Amino acid sequence: MTKTKIANSSDISASGVTKVSAGGKSLIVSQKDGKYCAIVNKCPHLGLPLAKGKVANGVITCPFHGSKFDLCSGKNTGWVDSVMGMSAPGWATKIISAGKPPTDVESFSVSPEGEELFADV
Ligand code: FES
Repeated sequence: MTKTKIANSSDISASGVTKVSAGGKSLIVSQKDGKYCAIVNKCPHLGLPLAKGKVANGVITCPFHGSKFDLCSGKNTGWVDSVMGMSAPGWATKIISAGKPPTDVESFSVSPEGEELFADV
């Protein structure tokens, strides 16, 4: 991993997430109470992008099948439970999950240096 500038703090959405590219990876960066966080923009379920998911209370919900991830730690807080925002019954979510177990997403600690944000990517 290499310390890499990922964005300027003024680029980061105050209420949602901001998609950036750094170190050959697509990341989503968020901020809460002056703290910046970054996770990979790739859902571990099927590898689809998370960036357009809903954000609430520091958690992003995958727009495809509803898995939830903490925006700072990347910890999975909910696994497949819907299809494109429509809830699915338990028996269907087992099929949709394709046998994949709940998995966290890679997270990166973000270091502000003045206006610039850095992470070991
Ligand atoms: S691609 Fe994210 S939950 Fe399926």
